[in-house]
Amino acid sequence: MALNQSRPLLVVEDLHVTVGEHEVLRGINLTINEGETHVLLGPNGGGKTTLLNTVVGLPGYRITQGRITFKGTDLAELEIDERARLGIGVAFQRPPAVRGIKLRQLIEVAAGDGAHEELLADLIGDLTLKKMIDRDVNMGFSGGEMKRSEMAQLLAQSPELTLFDEPESGVDLDNIAVVGKAMNRLLKAERIGKGTRSGLIVTHTGHILEYVNADIGHVLYDGKLACKGNPLDLIGEIGKHGYDKCVECALCQM
Ligand SMILES: Nc1ncnc2c1ncn2[C@@H]1O[C@H](COP(=O)(O)OP(=O)(O)OP(=O)(O)O)[C@@H](O)[C@H]1O
Ligand SMILES: [Mg+2]
Repeated sequence: MALNQSRPLLVVEDLHVTVGEHEVLRGINLTINEGETHVLLGPNGGGKTTLLNTVVGLPGYRITQGRITFKGTDLAELEIDERARLGIGVAFQRPPAVRGIKLRQLIEVAAGDGAHEELLADLIGDLTLKKMIDRDVNMGFSGGEMKRSEMAQLLAQSPELTLFDEPESGVDLDNIAVVGKAMNRLLKAERIGKGTRSGLIVTHTGHILEYVNADIGHVLYDGKLACKGNPLDLIGEIGKHGYDKCVECALCQM
């Protein structure tokens, strides 16, 4: 963990986001500094995916108030591909299938100048991609295969900030360890030997936190970040009392 590094990487200020007719986010404030990994908890339909997809720049998420900056740049100015080039990566909750593009090609594009046979061989080995590498991306992949495919693309991209939307959902116990190891590499930038990385992990169960160290947890409730604290303590409180009580408890006063 690198909490001594305090340069803000992602800054979300008073963010209001409408999806369709529905105002999902109603005043989110969040700062992720360089080297920090944060955890985002919250009930189904609360807006966790909405927050991640808004940062990434997917269409359909309308910012009506507030702003998001990344490395000091206002993201409203940037298209989705420009955000990726600036250093934002995402592992989607439900990754889209891409007909006509092989996983191998997508990994090569994600790696850019860093694309080489050694990297590809490494990823195929580490993430057991052999069965998928020459198939269309996510077409017919199982839930666990999709998550491993996401990790491979991210490791090739090596973003400064990675957003993980429920990385362990649908993944069996053996593969959670594989996904967790890949997440650690992303967050520590072991593979590429570059500077410290940051992350935001959405999880319901916290199982992935057995493999990945996280610094700070937040609870997204009623359109806002209602609570902040040690991620494992928060998960414990939610398990005991549910979300309604969790956001009233002493931890929220931290
Ligand atoms: N295209 C859309 N049109 C209308 N409502 C939408 C659309 N996309 C998302 N929503 C709504 O926005 C709300 C927030 O959804 P979101 O996916 O962000 O929740 P979440 O916190 O990620 O939930 P989960 O834990 O189930 O993944 C939900 O009520 C959802 O139905
Ligand atoms: Mg979600």
